[in-house]
Amino acid sequence: MPDRIRVGYVGCGMMAQRVHLPNFASLPDCELVALAEVRRDLGEKVQRRYGIPRLYPDHRGLLDDPAVDAIAVSAPFALQGQIARDALAAGKHVFMEKPMAISRAQAEAIVAAGASTGARLMVAYMKRFDPGNELVQATVAGWRASGELGPVVLARAHGFCGDWTAGIDLPPLEASDEPAPPAPTEEHLPPWLPARWAASYVGYLQQYTHNVNLLRFVLDAGDRVRVKHADLDPDGYTGVVILDVGGVRATLETGRLRYYRWDEHTQVYFERGWVHTWAPPLLLRNAVAEVEIYRSDEDGVPGDPGRRGTQHTITRAIPEPRWSWAYKREAAHFVECLRTGAPFRSPGEDALTDVRLFEDIFRTWLQI
Ligand SMILES: NC(=O)c1ccc[n+]([C@@H]2O[C@H](COP(=O)([O-])OP(=O)(O)OC[C@H]3O[C@@H](n4cnc5c(N)ncnc54)[C@H](O)[C@@H]3O)[C@@H](O)[C@H]2O)c1
Repeated sequence: MPDRIRVGYVGCGMMAQRVHLPNFASLPDCELVALAEVRRDLGEKVQRRYGIPRLYPDHRGLLDDPAVDAIAVSAPFALQGQIARDALAAGKHVFMEKPMAISRAQAEAIVAAGASTGARLMVAYMKRFDPGNELVQATVAGWRASGELGPVVLARAHGFCGDWTAGIDLPPLEASDEPAPPAPTEEHLPPWLPARWAASYVGYLQQYTHNVNLLRFVLDAGDRVRVKHADLDPDGYTGVVILDVGGVRATLETGRLRYYRWDEHTQVYFERGWVHTWAPPLLLRNAVAEVEIYRSDEDGVPGDPGRRGTQHTITRAIPEPRWSWAYKREAAHFVECLRTGAPFRSPGEDALTDVRLFEDIFRTWLQI
């Protein structure tokens, strides 16, 4: 691969304009060489704003461009998966927004397209690049290796949402009156899913895939994850799911809240301590997750949580880099991995597990 990765971007929607285009454009080892957008007027405005040399009327133009090493895409849920699949089949490396697919079958076809050409896929799970979550992951791994605070007894992922945009207003959004093309959905849904649950299923999947993906990262669970119980309201969104994540019981607590910030936290309990993290509103630039580490030491007796230690500490660790944006770090990681050949932290093969799990959650809940 060249020293500078030449990226072609597909789609000029909000995620492209507010997050990914400015981030890729700011990386020294990345060059935005082409853009694809079916809405011509919008594409031209965004092309001008970022000074991108070439504009194609849809993603297929990018795939034939030999001066494009990799493509990045953000578009409606099932559509971006099909664009990623076409790009991988054409031998282009891909950075794509989550979820990678809306069914296991669609996800497997995307991974197979990459395997057929050797092109690599990274799914943009930016929470794995938040320094707060990195600190949680490292602390959990360290305590598990040393056994110093006993075994892990529970993990919790809580997401009641709120305002994820944090009032972001820069860079300005280019707009257009042109209608967006229809986004294919039905043909990519799981075949067993009754049509009346399709919207809930996609809404729940696209939101909480972040939290399941983060739990698997923090607990180093890989594909070892299964559903034990699912209890959702008829909205198919609010409720509690109990999972086994790499041998650890974990709850996924979900719902909607009209909160002005972002109500999301993740906690891993050991027998004599915990690591707890609060996520920032997603589009709040350069804010990292807050981390609290609690431990009870000294003469606490392993296996007997009733015996309290004599030394209790709560640490509010400051993750490094302190002022950084997970979305920018994930873009830098993508470019760096392509330059060096290092593995992605969130490759398509791994993200497939999240899609599989959300089918399992809904099947368990609907008893199908
Ligand atoms: N990681 C996160 O925290 C996060 C947050 C919000 C959204 N997302 C993800 O971002 C995605 C949605 O992004 P968005 O809201 O910016 O999308 P959007 O629908 O606003 O934009 C998609 C653009 O792609 C264009 N397009 C469609 N088909 C095309 C094709 N074949 N070739 C070229 N252009 C094409 C459309 O005209 C549109 O302008 C979703 O998958 C969502 O899950 C992720």
